[in-house]
Amino acid sequence: MKISVIQFKPEFGDLEGNFHKIASYSESIESDILLFPELAFSGYDFSGRDEAMDLSEEYLKGYTGKLQEISTKLNKIICTGFAEKSSDRLHNSCCLLFPNSDYSTTYHKVHLFFRERFVFDESEKGFFVVNYPDSEINIGPMICYDWRFPEASRTLALKGADLILCPSNLVTKVWHISTPSRALENKVYLAVANRTGIENRNGNELEFNGGSVIHGFDGSTISKAGFDSEEVITAEIFPEMTRDKSFNEYNDIFTDRRPNFYI
Ligand code: ACM
Repeated sequence: MKISVIQFKPEFGDLEGNFHKIASYSESIESDILLFPELAFSGYDFSGRDEAMDLSEEYLKGYTGKLQEISTKLNKIICTGFAEKSSDRLHNSCCLLFPNSDYSTTYHKVHLFFRERFVFDESEKGFFVVNYPDSEINIGPMICYDWRFPEASRTLALKGADLILCPSNLVTKVWHISTPSRALENKVYLAVANRTGIENRNGNELEFNGGSVIHGFDGSTISKAGFDSEEVITAEIFPEMTRDKSFNEYNDIFTDRRPNFYI
């Protein structure tokens, strides 16, 4: 099974142009799983909630619906970040689209970063894993700043994830210290799709740092993108190899846990 991570620079507010880029990569890349960055249709640095509402869509009603059609037609799992509205609620979301759309869903970012708290609503769904029988893979989504909470990837691993997908808009590089450990300590694959480029909005300059990665379940970096290039990175993964959490005849990273000593 192959996964590809697509690193690019979404143009702020250009919903149609960004979607076309995502759709054309989705159609042309010969991989089973495709991962795009956070808020990849709209861009990131909204002036406020009203602007984000204008650049949002209802799940499967707009561009996410068109991506679902591509997923089903070409038999690819597609995950991308987008601003999701649902009646008066607004979430920093990612859709996780499966060829069999009965399994498709959206994740609402649990840990909101910096001014996102003035734009988006807090998640009520929390973390979950989708068990997709047709590809025999269990996928758990999280978004960007969720990386700073080891509880996020731990929860996804305990819920059975083989692969964690993390669409991101990261403005630092410190996360590279952390993500290999999240893969290693949970024995899961972990893919981060970061964006590139600068957004200069509201008197505020944000530089996004690329460096998208695919980590193996041993904490290795199987594939890594440059810091400012538009790039596709690809890796072969073996989901079933993540499921035995023992690493010698006496130790197992899940059954050895002592949760009564943790807070
Ligand atoms: C982030 O959560 N976009 C840094």
